[in-house]
Amino acid sequence: MQVHETIAGLRAALQAAGRIVFVPTMGNLHAGHTTLMRQARGHGDTVVSSIFVNRLQFRPGEDFDKYPRTFAADCEKLVAAGVDHLFAPSEEELYPEPQRYVVEPPVEHANILEGEFRPGHFRGVATVVMKLFAVVQPQAALFGKKDYQQFMVLSAMVREFALPIEVIPGETVRAEDGLALSSRNGYLSAAERAEAPRLHRCLSRLAEAVRAGNRDFAALEAAAFAELRARGWAPDYISVRKRIDLQSPPVDGNPPLVVLAAARLGSTRLIDNLEI
Ligand code: PAF
Repeated sequence: MQVHETIAGLRAALQAAGRIVFVPTMGNLHAGHTTLMRQARGHGDTVVSSIFVNRLQFRPGEDFDKYPRTFAADCEKLVAAGVDHLFAPSEEELYPEPQRYVVEPPVEHANILEGEFRPGHFRGVATVVMKLFAVVQPQAALFGKKDYQQFMVLSAMVREFALPIEVIPGETVRAEDGLALSSRNGYLSAAERAEAPRLHRCLSRLAEAVRAGNRDFAALEAAAFAELRARGWAPDYISVRKRIDLQSPPVDGNPPLVVLAAARLGSTRLIDNLEI
């Protein structure tokens, strides 16, 4: 695997790369990421990944400073997963001047769910991904469905700007007890880690009830909220939405649905979702 710290170096190395498949990350890689890398191999000639902890998508007071940086271990995993090129720029390389030109996702995508609790988050994500796309110029890019809203926002961005990039979803990878793999799981204490799979259990139960015909989403959401609260969690949202645009489901009709949740356990904020 070739590691590139500069845009010029990466571009020179990718000149005869054929169809480029790109998997951007913020590092601290786990099996969720490496599954995406392996999946990427089947979609093109050259697999490019990036590691860049993007300051623009963190709010003041969030975990930008303590976000785990594990570069050497990440490189080993990328090599094992068959990645050809890693782009690992410094902040000065990717943002040599303040990034005043930004991608502003529409409020109906950016200010709901995660965006309600992390204002500006999706502006930061869309802006860095647009910039990484400009640098890497991939023909395809993979994003995990664990960050379901991020996948929706970036798919819409690519569609509305007519970027010539195929956006491919990756399934969420879970631990045996159901907890979705996440870089932030490393913040959990042993007791919290034992409690953490409850989030997935609550979502599974809610999804099962909807599949069995229960359409009282508000009551189902409230029950899941109450269960988490009773076990010491602080949920931000648990919400049944339409998969296509993450808006509330209509009273009639039967569009494909997804239930999404975010909740704090101690000082760790976990997110998860399940397609119904
Ligand atoms: O999902 C992530 O790790 C990040 O949001 C991404 C897409 C790499 C942009 O910084």
